[in-house]
Amino acid sequence: MDINQLFQNGASHSILAPMAGYTDPAFRSICRQFGVGLTVTEMVSSKAIVMNNSQTKSLLVRFPNDTPSFVQIFGHEPSVMADSVQIPEIQAYDGVDINMGCPVKKIVKNGDGSALLENPKLASQVISAVKNAIGSKPLSVKFRLGVSSDSNVADFAKMCAQSGADFVTVHFRTRNQMYSGEPDFSTLSSICKCGVPVFANGNIATQQQYKQLMELGAYGVAIGRGALGRPYVFCQLTNTPYKMDVLETILTHINLLQQFLPQRVINNEMKKHIAFYLKGMRNAKQTVVDVTQSKSLQEVLHHVVAFFQQNPHLQVVEGNVGESL
Ligand SMILES: Cc1cc2nc3c(=O)[nH]c(=O)nc-3n(C[C@H](O)[C@H](O)[C@H](O)COP(=O)(O)O)c2cc1C
Repeated sequence: MDINQLFQNGASHSILAPMAGYTDPAFRSICRQFGVGLTVTEMVSSKAIVMNNSQTKSLLVRFPNDTPSFVQIFGHEPSVMADSVQIPEIQAYDGVDINMGCPVKKIVKNGDGSALLENPKLASQVISAVKNAIGSKPLSVKFRLGVSSDSNVADFAKMCAQSGADFVTVHFRTRNQMYSGEPDFSTLSSICKCGVPVFANGNIATQQQYKQLMELGAYGVAIGRGALGRPYVFCQLTNTPYKMDVLETILTHINLLQQFLPQRVINNEMKKHIAFYLKGMRNAKQTVVDVTQSKSLQEVLHHVVAFFQQNPHLQVVEGNVGESL
């Protein structure tokens, strides 16, 4: 597969990193409006898919403008992983990403996610099985530096490439670091010799970091938390002008969720997102508290609308070409 086919039309070499509970179909669709190169669903269990779990299937909703987009699956049984990608909802995606980085205890205990970092032989079988099952569609693998050190990461990347991955995304933290601490990009250049394009991930949020990592050999970057509340980060990577009406974006987010989720779930989902949309804005702290304590979506909206009525100058965020970031 030629990866350049995925990142056409001048899109930045960027991925919205999968985040369970955050990279819902609506947020992915919004990031698409701000130039993200590729989106990925939050992780879905291969076992649950094979068992036809309806809640899991709701994670596979996708809006028409969200393309290209990959579905991320987790599991460790090659045959189950291969079967899971045969269902039409997954085949409707442009490719598949395999999660080999999740550090969460209950996932690792089952042999899934980052447990596969410790079992490269099984990891290889999983990758080959999924690759055979998806045929000509692209496959990627997302993993971490290692469990407690980065000593085998370049070999793991090579194994992924040799087993059938078309590219890899590396979160430059170890499993033991979970989600905090500085990512260590010192092994990036050696990982980039693995034979397939490499996306760097970990605390990336500026054009300067994007450029530096590309200079070190990365094909692109994956951005997770740096995109929450600020989907325009993808425009910033390439110095593309952008204008985001925050209130309008929140309303769009809700409207899109309303197309497939019950009101009660939307209420909880939006509380998390709104905290990010308002993050860093002067005087927003009390509104975030009020939103969090709201009992209904109507109440949530009341607080958000009131905030922007009192602070109209904060409603639009924009950036121009040539602005230093
Ligand atoms: C709340 C949350 C949920 C996440 N869920 C997933 C997931 O489903 N699959 C995955 O591969 N990584 C997941 N991650 C890891 C992110 O994709 C990313 O690797 C990590 O946050 C580091 O990137 P960042 O510093 O840009 O956020 C999650 C991270 C967070 C904070």
